[in-house]
Amino acid sequence: MCGIIGIVSKNQVVDRLIDGLERLEYRGYDSAGIATISSSEIVHSKSTGKLVSLKNKIKQNPIDGHVGIGHTRWATHGEPIEVNAHPHVTKNVAVVHNGIIENFAEFKNGLLEKGIIFNSQTDTEVIARLVEEKISMEKCGPLEAVRLTIEKLRGSFALCFIFKGLENLIVVTRRGSPLALGFGDGENFVSSDALSLSIFSRKVCYLEEGDLATLTSDEVKIYDSFGNSVFRDTQILFTDPINLSKGQYKHFMEKEIFEQPEVISQVLGYYLNAFEGTLSLPSLPQSTEIQRIILIGCGTAFYSCLAAKYWFESLSGITTHAELASEFRYRSPVVRKDDLLIFVSQSGETADTIGALRFAKKYTKNILAVVNVEQSSIARESNWVFPTKAGPEIGVASTKAFICQLIVLKILNIKFASDLSKISVKNRSNLLNGLLELPRLYAEILSQNENIKKLCKKFIGSNSVLYLGRDVLYPIALEGALKLKEISYLHAEGYASGELKHGPIALIDESMPLVALNPWSKVFEKTLSNLEEVKARRGKIILFTDKKGKELSKDLTKSIFQLPSCSELLTPILYSLPLQLIAYYTALDKGTDVDQPRNLAKSVTVE
Ligand code: F6R
Repeated sequence: MCGIIGIVSKNQVVDRLIDGLERLEYRGYDSAGIATISSSEIVHSKSTGKLVSLKNKIKQNPIDGHVGIGHTRWATHGEPIEVNAHPHVTKNVAVVHNGIIENFAEFKNGLLEKGIIFNSQTDTEVIARLVEEKISMEKCGPLEAVRLTIEKLRGSFALCFIFKGLENLIVVTRRGSPLALGFGDGENFVSSDALSLSIFSRKVCYLEEGDLATLTSDEVKIYDSFGNSVFRDTQILFTDPINLSKGQYKHFMEKEIFEQPEVISQVLGYYLNAFEGTLSLPSLPQSTEIQRIILIGCGTAFYSCLAAKYWFESLSGITTHAELASEFRYRSPVVRKDDLLIFVSQSGETADTIGALRFAKKYTKNILAVVNVEQSSIARESNWVFPTKAGPEIGVASTKAFICQLIVLKILNIKFASDLSKISVKNRSNLLNGLLELPRLYAEILSQNENIKKLCKKFIGSNSVLYLGRDVLYPIALEGALKLKEISYLHAEGYASGELKHGPIALIDESMPLVALNPWSKVFEKTLSNLEEVKARRGKIILFTDKKGKELSKDLTKSIFQLPSCSELLTPILYSLPLQLIAYYTALDKGTDVDQPRNLAKSVTVE
């Protein structure tokens, strides 16, 4: 969740620590800090709020050093105030931490009994105090002090330490949270995110579970959890350093919404040969040997799983479940060796999803990842990887990554359906052609963004918004509501249209806006009846439909936005776009922080 970085170099490191933190800020932005060793002493600077406040503080009171660590925080233990910001510093040790120490309280109590005074409410300070104790009381060396400390810790962590008097050393370790090392010339780097290292070095390696490492400016040594010296494969990063430019746009989210026509073409180009009308896919488990599909993800990624459940059952005829990763592994689910488990994640680092993946691996080898970050833990721990090719997504609210997840899952769906002879050659070719139409249809909808902006005026003065969809558009109603909540802080709920009468209809009155997704389909008339029930109770309906749906809904509402017609199975991809725009324009109206909404972080690496 938090972002961590460390640099040890023959040159000054402070400016580059800040550059690195800038690329990590999406992981947490409620406070930030750095520490270095300068003239043998630990010096540090911390600030609450966005990184820019830390930058200003350092401009006024500069610090220097050839070794340093930095952190952007997403608060877990202790509110986002300066004393809780990282690094946590004792007499001899400074540490930054990503993760959660579950048993910190028992150590804290022991240290308090010994008269140790704590400055913060964090679990991380306990780590600093335990390492300090090993160094100053038990006279351990830095690596040994860290190794003995982490032996006792439960939970997840990626940790970077620097030490008083040691101007050429960083000690790092990880369990549960990722850490990547970057190799430079006369300098070495560590970060919670390999992409943030790409501005410093393209040669990286990933530490494995329980690894420790020491970094000096000339050398990196890695040890496994037993203290054996080990070698970890290095890789060359081909991804361009994260482009931090918003171009002509006001926000990254706006840019990421508007670049979707190109991004969709990109992902389609990766998996489809448009000229021959064929799929070109990475290797994949044999469809005929799969009894069930279980799709797992969190948040927006879970909603793409839910949409794919409808697709896999209706088109491929495979029993399919969609599961919330955070629930999955703790409820003793049944996983069999002929199940295919598909883990969907933008970041590939979501702790809940990784936990579910590791649980499932005990029962089956059929582990497939649909991820955006191709170097991520989920990709590395899966047996098959389908990249979503959305490019770096900086806005915290997922937009283009979600759409690419849907497209990749749809492609898998078509592949299984044709392998199992569930669709005719003609139907398959229609679906592939339908997918190829998407960039054009997206561009067409985006060109009408001003009309969608006007529809958002219906939300003025409302405290809550309902989103309705039926069948394959139900997951999209859920996603639309999530997007609105996340960035505009306006309460919103998604419902399956048929469920309204079972309770939520009690909420409907003249002040309640309701966004309905109802293009012409086999369930059109059913949903129209549900919407009539809303109208009868004076709810304000904003309808997204197609040409035929519009003709049949003329008497329902004046707030209708007509989308281009497309195959029923592709509507989830098309109808997501106006809902992204609704969330974005509502947030603009409300003046919220669109790219870094309060309390959220892009990559959720705690459970
Ligand atoms: C919402 C959003 C989150 C993520 C969720 C999973 O806009 O971005 O709900 O979808 O935290 O993250 P990933 O996809 O990185 O596993």
